[in-house]
Amino acid sequence: MAHEMAKMSSITVRKLDERLKKQLRLRAAKHGRSMEDEVRAILRDATTNIEQLDVATAISRIVDPIGGIDLELPTRTRLNEKTAHSTRILLIIGGGIAAYKSLDLIRRLQERGARVRCILTPAAQRFVTPLAAGALCGERAYSDLFDPQSEFDVGHIRLARDTDLVVVAPATADLMAKMAGGHADDLAAAVLLATGKPILIAPAMNPHMWAAKATRRNLAQLAADGVRVVGPNSGEMAERGEAGLGRMAEPLEIVAAVEAMMRSEGPLSGRRVLVTSGPTHEPIDPVRFIANRSSGKQGHAIAAAAAAAGADVVLVSGPVDLPDPPGLAVVKVETAEQMLAAVEQALPVDVAVFAAAVADWRVERPSGSKIKKVGRPQQLGLVENPDILATVAHRRSGRPRLVIGFAAETDDVIANAKAKLAKKGCDWIVANDVSPETGIMGGDVNTIHLIAAAGVESWPPQSKNDVARMLVERIAAALKEAKRR
Ligand code: CTP
Repeated sequence: MAHEMAKMSSITVRKLDERLKKQLRLRAAKHGRSMEDEVRAILRDATTNIEQLDVATAISRIVDPIGGIDLELPTRTRLNEKTAHSTRILLIIGGGIAAYKSLDLIRRLQERGARVRCILTPAAQRFVTPLAAGALCGERAYSDLFDPQSEFDVGHIRLARDTDLVVVAPATADLMAKMAGGHADDLAAAVLLATGKPILIAPAMNPHMWAAKATRRNLAQLAADGVRVVGPNSGEMAERGEAGLGRMAEPLEIVAAVEAMMRSEGPLSGRRVLVTSGPTHEPIDPVRFIANRSSGKQGHAIAAAAAAAGADVVLVSGPVDLPDPPGLAVVKVETAEQMLAAVEQALPVDVAVFAAAVADWRVERPSGSKIKKVGRPQQLGLVENPDILATVAHRRSGRPRLVIGFAAETDDVIANAKAKLAKKGCDWIVANDVSPETGIMGGDVNTIHLIAAAGVESWPPQSKNDVARMLVERIAAALKEAKRR
């Protein structure tokens, strides 16, 4: 995927006019990236929060950030570039009336950042056209095993390999029989036989065909071969008066099954990760509180990146103005004490990342009613909040394997962060300079130093999403390394 994107962006960068190229060159230099990488970063950032938007708005958000450059990428490819974890899905559409729902499935998968390629069986083309499927995918749909053009373009073996997951929807009785028997007499069957990637089928057929002994046998064989199945559902059939088990699962059910499969494939699959994020609010009275400028962007991005890498994630968040990242559990809290309680509730975990900007102090006796402006200003008696990171890092039993703290500093960033690493007892510290002139607090870019007992690694300025992805990669590598030892 990244490779293809690189190809696309290099073509388009060349096409840009000189003024825009210069702008892009400056941006790339500032971030220490190649121009292609910069284009990729812009696309990724611009698309991070567009899941809920319609296509037109999404595109305008992508195009705008670099001054109206039209990157000339196919519409759908832009939508697919939402995250570095874009999943490549090969959708095989079988020949059944449910094929029309597969067109919607393409959209729903793309909305979640997947890049979808399509193969239509000969029978599928009686229900939907390769043109419609291709238009939605943003690239031609494939249909013929003996088509010299597609063999020249991609070839059936590459179609089988250049994907993360194969989805067969609708999976007809005939297609299931071919899969179970290892046939390769059309493009769909040949690709299904050639692929080593996980396969998900969404069967759809008449209830009598679904109940037939041959289909039962084929289904058992496919399950034994590791093929996953979603549906079918019970309900009305296309044939008048027919009802029963055999309706294809709804597109969103298929998407949920895809997401569950991808989670079990990622570098953090099977791991439990806890992330704290955002500020805490410490009440003064019912209408006032002590807070800080943390936006929660970095913590939320880390939680989202860990979930995208397959982890089972609990995000404990203070009050933020951000949507809940999809695919993870969010526990919302206000105060440091509530955050500590939620964190302890979430344990045990493999990895804990403490990105929250926890208020160090709370008001000893918050007023139950609004404090009135009478006489001299009130003195607020403050007491220290529990240190959540230190509490977890110093646990004798049930300490996460990897405890990661943050250090938001304005002076002597690395020296202060090193002292924090020792004092708090964590394994790594992600240190950043939050002086107002850096724009890091609340902004979208972060420049961090990763500090461990072994040394300090300084990362180039990059988006908070990129920092999150890099951190998650490091976490996965460290856990793998620890397992080997
Ligand atoms: N932290 C925490 N609980 C607290 C205070 C901080 O879990 N009560 C965590 C933060 O989530 C962060 C790390 O400790 O991972 C460092 O936070 P920071 O505010 O930079 O450090 P402090 O300990 O508050 O030190 P100081 O304010 O003196 O720099």
